Amino acid sequence: MKQRKILVTSSLPYGNGPLHLGHMLEYIQTDIWVRFQQLRGHTCYYICGIDAHGSPIMLRAEKEGITPTQLIERIYQSHQQDFAKFHIKFDSYYTTHSKENRELTEFIFNKLKAGGHITTKTIKQAYDAQKNMFLPDRFVRGECPRCGAPDQYGDSCDICGATYNPLDMKNPVSVISGTVPVEKESEHLFFDLPKHESFLINWMNQGHLQEPMINKLKEWFTTGLQAWDISRDAPYFGFTIPGYTDKYFYVWLDAPIGYMASFKKFTTMHPTISFEEFWDKNSTHELYHFIGKDVAYFHTLFWPALLAACQIRLPSSIYAHGFLTVNGKKMSKSRGTFISANTYLKHLNPEYLRYYFASKLNNGIEDLDLNLEDFKTKVNADLVGKLINIASRCSGFISKFFAGKLSPSLANPELFKNFLQSEKPIADYYENRQYSAAIREIMRLADIANQYINDNQPWILAKQPEKLPEVQTICSLAINLFKTLIIYLQPVLPALAKSVSEFLNTPVFTWQDSHLPLLNHTINVYQPLMTRIEEEQIIAMQNDANEELKAESERIIAPAAISTKLAIKPEISLEDFMKVDLRLATIVQAEHVEGADKLLKLQLDLGEGEIRQVFAGIKTCYQPEALIGKQTIMVANLQPRKMRFGLSSGMVLVAKSGEQLWLTTAEPGAPAGSPIQ
Ligand code: MSP
Ligand code: ZN
Repeated sequence: MKQRKILVTSSLPYGNGPLHLGHMLEYIQTDIWVRFQQLRGHTCYYICGIDAHGSPIMLRAEKEGITPTQLIERIYQSHQQDFAKFHIKFDSYYTTHSKENRELTEFIFNKLKAGGHITTKTIKQAYDAQKNMFLPDRFVRGECPRCGAPDQYGDSCDICGATYNPLDMKNPVSVISGTVPVEKESEHLFFDLPKHESFLINWMNQGHLQEPMINKLKEWFTTGLQAWDISRDAPYFGFTIPGYTDKYFYVWLDAPIGYMASFKKFTTMHPTISFEEFWDKNSTHELYHFIGKDVAYFHTLFWPALLAACQIRLPSSIYAHGFLTVNGKKMSKSRGTFISANTYLKHLNPEYLRYYFASKLNNGIEDLDLNLEDFKTKVNADLVGKLINIASRCSGFISKFFAGKLSPSLANPELFKNFLQSEKPIADYYENRQYSAAIREIMRLADIANQYINDNQPWILAKQPEKLPEVQTICSLAINLFKTLIIYLQPVLPALAKSVSEFLNTPVFTWQDSHLPLLNHTINVYQPLMTRIEEEQIIAMQNDANEELKAESERIIAPAAISTKLAIKPEISLEDFMKVDLRLATIVQAEHVEGADKLLKLQLDLGEGEIRQVFAGIKTCYQPEALIGKQTIMVANLQPRKMRFGLSSGMVLVAKSGEQLWLTTAEPGAPAGSPIQ
C-alpha cells in the first residue's frame, strides 16, 4: 500500500464560548477519520485551533471586564481540556491570534493586492454613536422591513425569512447601548470574488465536493457572487491591515489562514516536516477540510478563490456534515437542549458519544439527532450487550483453567477468516466517511461471535474435565474474534482499544494485527471494560445542563440588561392611553408553530366564548404546556395582522431584558375579559 501524506483540518471553534455537543460531532467525525488513516500506516496530521478574532469576542471580554487575549486564553484552555477528554487528538491546536497567522495573513493580503484582487469602496453602515463603533448586523435589532415582525436581527427575519441590511429595518436599536443606530460612511476593502467565478465553477466540477454541496454552490452562482468585504473598522479585535491604523481584517479572512498558521507552528516544533511540501502550489499531498454546512460559503467559495489568487495549493476535498439536534430539536440555550462538552463529560463516558455519532454518521449533510433514549439503548445493546460481552463471557474460563493461556490453534479457522473478509469493506466505509455502515458491519460480526459462543456453550463443557481442551479453543477463538472487532473499532473507540490491548497483553494494535491471531499467548485477568448507561446519569446530565444555563444567563444577561435599557418613549396623553384596550385573558391553548423559531400560537379566552388567536414571540423562553391555564394581559383592540402562519388578533404583553422574556400574568381569580385599568 502506498503511504499517503495527508493534512486534515476541522473548523476552528470560536473563542467566545465553551464547546458543546454540536461541535463535538465535527471533531469526532474528523478524529475518527484521522485515526483510521494513521492506523492504516499513512502520515496524517490533524490541525485545528481557536478562532480568536471578531466583535463578539471583543464585546464579551469587555462585558466580563477582561481583555480579549485573557478571554481567548481561558477559552483555549477549556477547549483543550474538552478535546483531550473526548480523545480528539490534534497534532496542532493553535490560535488565529498568533505571530504565524499575522505573517501569513499579511503575506496573502499583499499578494492579493499586488495581483489586483483587492478593491475599495465607501459603504454606509449602522453605527452606534454612543459606543463609537460600527455595528455588526447581529448587533442591530428592530422590525422586519418586509413583514413588520418586531425584535428581529439586523440581517434576517426569523418570522418571514427575509434577508436585508440593518439600515432598512424599522425602529432599529443597537444591542450594545440601546440607542438608535445612525448611518455612517466608511471605506472598506473588498476581495474581488466575482472575478473568480469561472475558476470556481470549474473547480466545483472536479470532484472536490459532495453532491448536495455542489447543488448549494449552483444556487449561489445563480444568485450571483459579490465582492467580499474583508475589512472592519476600529474598534475591533483582530489584525490591522497593512497601511492602515484603524482598519482590521475581518475575522473570516484570517480564520481559514489559521489552518496554515497552525500547521506552520507544528512544523517549527517538528523541523523535519516541511510546511512548503504540503502547501506548495504543486504539492501532491492531500488536504481535507471537515466543516459544518453552515460555514460552507466561506470554505467552498472564498477560500479556494483566495488560495488560487495567491498561487497556493487548493484543498483535495471539503467534507461538510449536517447539524446536531438533541431529542429532535435544534440545540438551543433557551430550550434546554444545549449540552456543553464539559457537562456531558461530568456524567458520561466520552466513548459512548463517539460510538453513537459513528453509528449515525455518513458522508451526507443531513442533520443528525442525538436522541438520548436511543443513545442509551444503542450503547447498552451494542457496546455492552454485544461487543464487551464476547470478552467477558469467555475470559473467565481462560484465567480459571488455563492460567490465562490461549490455545495453540484456532477452533474454527474458517470463522476467523470470515471476519477478515470484512476488512476491506470496513476500511472503504471509513475512508468514505460512511461510519454508520462500518458500525453496522462490525455489529453484524459481533452477533456472529456471540452466536458462536451460544452454539458451543463453553460453560456446559467446562463441567466435564475431558472437554476442557475444547473450552480453551472455543474461548480462545472468541477472544481472537473480539480482538479483530476491537481493531476495526479502534478509530472510534481508542481508549477502549487501549484497555483491550492491555487486557490481551499486546502492544497497541495496528490495522494489520487483525490478521495475526493470538495463539499460545498469555492474557491478563479480565477487568470490566465498559459499563452500561443508567437512566439516572442522563437525567443528571440534563439537570446539570439546565443549571449551567441558568448560571450562565445570570452572569451574561445581568450586565446586558442594564446596558440595553431602552430610552423611554415620548409622553402621551391619558386619552392616547385610553385608546389601548387592555384585557385579562386566559391562555386556553398554546402550541409550537411549524417553521418558526420564536413564535408560539396562543388561543386566548376573552370571556363569553370569545377566543382570540395570537402569535407571540416567546418560544425561546416558554414551553407551550406550561402556559395553558395562565392569566395574562393582552391588547384586545390591536389591528389584526396577517402573518405567514395565520392571523394574529391582538398581542400579549411581555417584559424583556436581553434575551430573557417574562410574560405578564395576573393574580388568579379575575374573570377572563376583565378590562385592565
Ligand atoms: N469560527 C468559525 C469557523 C472558522 S473555520 C476557518 C465557526 N466556529 S463555530 O464554533 O461556530 O463552529 C465550529 C464548527 O462546529 C463549524 O464547522 C460548525 O459547523 C460546527 N458546529 C457548530 N454547531 C454545530 C451543531 N449544532 N452541529 C454540528 N456542527 C456544529 O463557525
Ligand atoms: Zn419578516
